[in-house]
Amino acid sequence: MNRIRYPLTQAALAALLLTTQSPVLQADRFTEADLERWTQEYMAVVDKGEKLFHGGLENENTVSCDQCHPDAANTHPETYPKFQQQLGKVAVLGEMVNWCIQNPLESDPLTLDDPRMVALQAYIHEQRRLVPMAPGKH
Ligand code: HEC
Repeated sequence: MNRIRYPLTQAALAALLLTTQSPVLQADRFTEADLERWTQEYMAVVDKGEKLFHGGLENENTVSCDQCHPDAANTHPETYPKFQQQLGKVAVLGEMVNWCIQNPLESDPLTLDDPRMVALQAYIHEQRRLVPMAPGKH
C-alpha cells in the first residue's frame, strides 16, 4: 500500500464501518416498564448485599463487615481501581473485599462474579451514590 492511498483507504474504511455498524452502536430501546423492573432487580441485589454486609456471610468467626465499616464507611469504592498496599498491586474493589473476607473474616475468597460478591459491591456502591469518581486516589 503506498503512502498516498493509505489515508484514503483508512477514511473509506472508517466511513464504511460507521454506516454499516451504526445500528449496532445504538443502545437498545427500553420502556418505562423495563426501567422499573431493572431498578427493582438492582435494589433487590443491593438489599441482599446489605444483609451479607451485616453478618450474612456465614463465616465461622462471625466477624461482619459492618463492625469495621458501619454503613459501608471507609470502603471508598469510588477510588478503585487503585494501588492497594495489602495486595501489592493495582486492584479492583472486589479484590479488596476478598482481602477482608480472607483476613478479618478468616474465610475463603469469593470469585469476582459470585452473586454474593456482586451484591456486596452493589451495596457498597449504593452507599456512596453521587460521590465523584476518583480512581487511583488515596
Ligand atoms: C476487623 C475490621 C474489618 C472488617 C471486619 C472488615 N474490614 Fe474491610 N478493611 C479493614 C481494614 C483495616 C482495611 C484496610 C484499609 C486500607 O488500608 O485501605 C479495609 C479495607 C476495606 C476496603 C477498601 C477500603 C479502601 O479505602 O480502599 C473495602 C472495600 C472493604 N474493606 C470492605 C470490607 C467488606 C466487604 C467486609 C466484609 C466482608 C470488610 N471489609 C470487613 C478492616 C475490616
